[in-house]
Amino acid sequence: MKEQLAKIRSEALSALESVKDAVALDELRVKYLGKKGELTAVLKQMGKLTAEERPAMGALANEVRAAVETAVETAAQKLEEAALEVKLRAETVDVTIPGKEAQLGHKHPMYMALDEIKDIFVGMGFTVLDGPEIELASYNFDKLNAEEGHPSRDWSDTFYFDEDSRVMLRSQTSPMQVRAMETMELPIRIIAPGRVYRKDEVDATHSPMFHQVEGMVIDKHVTMADLKGTLNLLAEQLFGKGTVTRFRPHHFPFTEPSCEMDVQCHKCGGAGCATCKGEGWIELLGAGMIHPRVLEMSGIDPEQWSGWAFGMGLERTAMRRFKIADLRLIFENDVRFLEQF
Ligand code: DAH
Repeated sequence: MKEQLAKIRSEALSALESVKDAVALDELRVKYLGKKGELTAVLKQMGKLTAEERPAMGALANEVRAAVETAVETAAQKLEEAALEVKLRAETVDVTIPGKEAQLGHKHPMYMALDEIKDIFVGMGFTVLDGPEIELASYNFDKLNAEEGHPSRDWSDTFYFDEDSRVMLRSQTSPMQVRAMETMELPIRIIAPGRVYRKDEVDATHSPMFHQVEGMVIDKHVTMADLKGTLNLLAEQLFGKGTVTRFRPHHFPFTEPSCEMDVQCHKCGGAGCATCKGEGWIELLGAGMIHPRVLEMSGIDPEQWSGWAFGMGLERTAMRRFKIADLRLIFENDVRFLEQF
C-alpha cells in the first residue's frame, strides 16, 4: 500500500508537471483525486490494515492527497498564466502602426464662391438675409409687378402647390426684396442667397433647382451709377482686377430701367469660344433700378426713396470663378471633382 501511494504521488506529480491544457488537467484531477480515482481506491483498502498500521498509512495518504492537490493548483495557475500571456501578446497595441486616415469632406466650390460674395457685400455694409423656398405667388410675382398672365407665372415654368397658383416653390430670390421692404427700416442694403426652382430639364447649363443671390439697396438719391459701380467692384473682387464687364438693356417687370451684366469670357478673353458659345461674354446677372410701383406696393414712397437690385445665378458664378465647364458637376458631388478646389 505504501508503494501504491508512492507510485500515485510520483505519477500524478510528473503528469501534472507537463499538463498541456485545462481539459487534460481536469482529467488528471479526476483520475487521482476523484471519487472513483486512484487515491480513493487505495484508501478503500485501509480496512484490511491492522489498527497499528492504519494511522501511519492514513497520514501518508493525506500527505499524498495534499501533495497532488497542491500540484493540481500549481498546474492550474501555470495554465492560467500561460493563457493570459497568449492573450496579452495577441492584444498588444503597436502604437507605431500608422493610423487609418479619416476622409474629411470640405466646402463645396459653389459655397466657396458664395462665401466670397457674402464677404464682399458684408464689407460694403450689406446684411445677409435668408428666406422661404416655399413662397406665396403674391411675393414671387404680384408684388414684383409681374401681373396675372406674365409668362413666368405659367404652369409649364413654375412648381405650384395648389390649383389656384397661390403657393409655389420660389422661381427667383427676388421675393426677398419685398420681404425686406416690408420688414426692414430704411435705408436697406441686403443680399439674399438661396435655392430657386423652375421646370427645366437637366443639361450642361440648366437644372430644376439652382441658386441665386439677390441684392438690393434702397436709399435716398440712389442711381444707376451706384448699381454699376457696385457690380463692377463685385466682378473685380470675384474674378480678379481688370475683369471687363458690360451692361446690356433688358426687361424685368420689377426694374426700370433693367439690364443684364456680362463678364468677358475667361477662356478666350472675348474672342469667342466653346465656353461662351462664341459670344465672348458670359451673362452673370440681371439688375436694374427698382420700379416705382414695386416700392409703392411695399409702402415706400418712390418720390423720396430710390433703389437698385440685382439677381445673380450662383452656379454660373462659381463656374466662372473656378473655370468649371458643366453645371452638372456642381450637383453630382463626385469627390474626384470636389477635391480639386
Ligand atoms: N429675378 C431675376 C431672374 O430670376 C433676376 C433679377 C433681375 C433680379 C433684375 C433682380 C433684378 O433683382 O433687379 O431672372
